[in-house]
Amino acid sequence: MRLSNCHNFHDFRELARRRLPGPIFDYIDGGADDEVTYRRNTASFERCDLVPDVLRGVANVDLSVTVMGQRLAVPFYCSPTALQRLFHHQGERAVAAAASQYGTMFGVSSLGTVSLEELRKAYSTPQMYQFYFHKDRGLNRAMMSRAREAGVEVMMLTVDSITGGNRERDLRTGFAIPFKLTLGGMLQFALKPMWGLNYVTHERFSLPQLDQHVHMDGGTMSIGRYFTEMLDPAMNWDDVAEMVQEWNGQFCLKGVMSVGDAKRAAEIGCTGIVLSNHGGRQLDGSRCAFDQLAEVVDAVGERVDVMMDGGCQRGTHVLKALSLGAKAVGLGRFYLFPLAAAGQAGVERALGLLRAEIERGMKLMGRASISQLSRDNLRFR
Ligand code: LAC
Repeated sequence: MRLSNCHNFHDFRELARRRLPGPIFDYIDGGADDEVTYRRNTASFERCDLVPDVLRGVANVDLSVTVMGQRLAVPFYCSPTALQRLFHHQGERAVAAAASQYGTMFGVSSLGTVSLEELRKAYSTPQMYQFYFHKDRGLNRAMMSRAREAGVEVMMLTVDSITGGNRERDLRTGFAIPFKLTLGGMLQFALKPMWGLNYVTHERFSLPQLDQHVHMDGGTMSIGRYFTEMLDPAMNWDDVAEMVQEWNGQFCLKGVMSVGDAKRAAEIGCTGIVLSNHGGRQLDGSRCAFDQLAEVVDAVGERVDVMMDGGCQRGTHVLKALSLGAKAVGLGRFYLFPLAAAGQAGVERALGLLRAEIERGMKLMGRASISQLSRDNLRFR
């Protein structure tokens, strides 16, 4: 199986599965508990149908959108995800390069493996910086000012990870940073020697967003301990209101789901929210973003930009979300499997296929610009 044979999400996932050691594939592929929410994320798009119009003159289709004050050439962006150099040695560089090529925004995780400064300098399209709320308020301020100095356009605070999700695949393999593999997990690494060779012959693994503030080497700190010891489970709306004021720019909360929370986010001055269940990796049994989209857009859509992520695998999924009122759709596994499968070339191919699917779908729907999509062209079953 080769990159040129990858035509959709499932093909890229399969190529990634062949290339990655099992524990790393399962870290990306897995969800929390019984993975019910993870499975439903994609299924939720099938609850409704697109109702096309014909004979509308669609020779030229404009896919651009404006979200969080940023003009994007396509209505999707690469959400921030952790540890990308573990999946392919090009890591975040490949994703940022591909996003730039398609004129869209890329997220950089505070658990990223390339520095936000390097990425901001090297690639031109808008960058969102994902971060968590630490007990140490000085650390929160330091991270925000670092992002400001680097020229980050959008701050994104993750609010659905107040504690870690129960990811049983990782428990079985021993996936953790640093690695604490079970015997079974080690055997799975031994089966993929090419990955290992690549890993040891490239730049050493590091977490440059955190390295300055947290000492991950020396074996004392781990990502697990970072979550339990350094992040603040007491974080509340007042804390976040202060951060929003201090940033005084584009600021979104990722992982909002209820209408009440969406309203509060608008009240404290957030400029955007991302409806998300973290790819089904946190609270299993929780609501899917697509299912919750309409009521949240109705409640706050005039005041904040509502985005969503979770389960998007097709251009028509993006069209359905936009029709309900999302300003843009975030991608996670959709670009991570291509990254693992083939680095930058893989991510470029995946984003290119998605753009082509959206453009084709727009033409078949009789729509020449994203603003022409509305609930009129959707029917729920
Ligand atoms: C995860 C965290 C790191 O889902 O966002 O693994």
